[in-house]
Amino acid sequence: MLNQTLILIKPDGLKKSLTGNILTRLSETKLEIVAAKIIRVTPEMAEAHYCHLKEKTFFKELISYLTGELHQRKKVMAMVYWGEDAIQKIREIAGATNPEEASPTSIRGQFGRITTKGLYENVVHASAIESDAEREIKLWFDPDEIIFDLYPTRIVTTGGRKVRVWI
Ligand code: TYD
Repeated sequence: MLNQTLILIKPDGLKKSLTGNILTRLSETKLEIVAAKIIRVTPEMAEAHYCHLKEKTFFKELISYLTGELHQRKKVMAMVYWGEDAIQKIREIAGATNPEEASPTSIRGQFGRITTKGLYENVVHASAIESDAEREIKLWFDPDEIIFDLYPTRIVTTGGRKVRVWI
C-alpha cells in the first residue's frame, strides 16, 4: 500500500555527524523524499509530538532530548518519505525503540545508545502507523512544504495573503 511517514534525525544524530550515514541507509528503501527541512524544536512542539508519553517518568528528559537541550544542538532534520509500504520499510530500517534490542544492522542498532539515566538516544524517529504518520506530518509540515498533497487542504486568507492549511 502507498503511504507516507515522518522521519526525524534527532539532535544526537546531528551532533554525531550522522546525517549522511542515515540518509544513505534510508535510501536503501528506494522510497521518495517528498519534504525535508532543518528546524529548531520548541518545548511545545516536542510535547505535542510525544503527547502519548506524557505520563512516562522519562517524559521531561525526552522533551529535553528532542529540543536539543540535552546535546547542546538545538535542531532536528525533519523529512517525509513516500512510497510503497513506506511506514513499514522505514520502521524496519530504523530498528526497535530500544537501541540495545534493535537489530545491529538497523540505524538505531548501529548508532543509538542508552544514557546512564536510562533514556534511549535512538538517533531517529519514524512514524509507527498511518494515523500517527498523518498526525505527525501535519504537526511538522505545512502543506506547501511538501511536493504534493498528501492530505486534504483548504485555503485561508490571513493578512490579505492566501495560504493553504490542513483540514
Ligand atoms: P515510543 O513512541 O514508544 O517509540 P518509537 O520512537 O519507537 O515510536 O517512544 C518515543 C521515544 O521515547 C523513543 O524513541 C525513545 C524514548 N523512550 C525511552 O527513552 N525509554 C522508553 O522506555 C521508551 C518506551 C521510549
